[in-house]
Amino acid sequence: MVKKEIKDMLEAQVNREIASSYLYMALSMKCKIVNFEGAAHWFRLQSIEELTHAEKLINYLTMQGEEVVLEQIDKPVVNGETLLDFYTQTNKHEQFVTGCIHELTAAARANNDFSTEALMQWFISEQVEEEANVMDIISKLKLIGNEGSNLYLIDKELATRPAAVTVTA
Ligand code: FEO
Repeated sequence: MVKKEIKDMLEAQVNREIASSYLYMALSMKCKIVNFEGAAHWFRLQSIEELTHAEKLINYLTMQGEEVVLEQIDKPVVNGETLLDFYTQTNKHEQFVTGCIHELTAAARANNDFSTEALMQWFISEQVEEEANVMDIISKLKLIGNEGSNLYLIDKELATRPAAVTVTA
């Protein structure tokens, strides 16, 4: 049994994860248009991964007999034209998501909701990993600048991101 306050917050987080997926799909398409095939691949996998995050939350709620209501998803807005722009936007977005996860964790703790707090520990670790990966890409992009042949190499590296997503409750 999940308290209403926590249920509402988890439901809002489902919406955010799906909105994240939507944003990364938009970034993937943008990368394709500007001929960064590797980054398009990276963002496409990120988009899929965000859906698995939403599904993890949905599974948690439905397992406890809670109905999950899906809300409208805002139209994603892609900022800028360069890979550095796209990953900077990603970094800001993930920092926002991390803040939401921390709020949820704090609320779970304040409500003695130990199972939700345990679930949130998974998300906290995931956010640390995601932010670190994005920061690593940003550091490389800053290092090489906006020079064509170096960007080509980074794009090739982004193309090697493995598709490794499984959904577990
Ligand atoms: Fe589901 Fe990128 O956090």
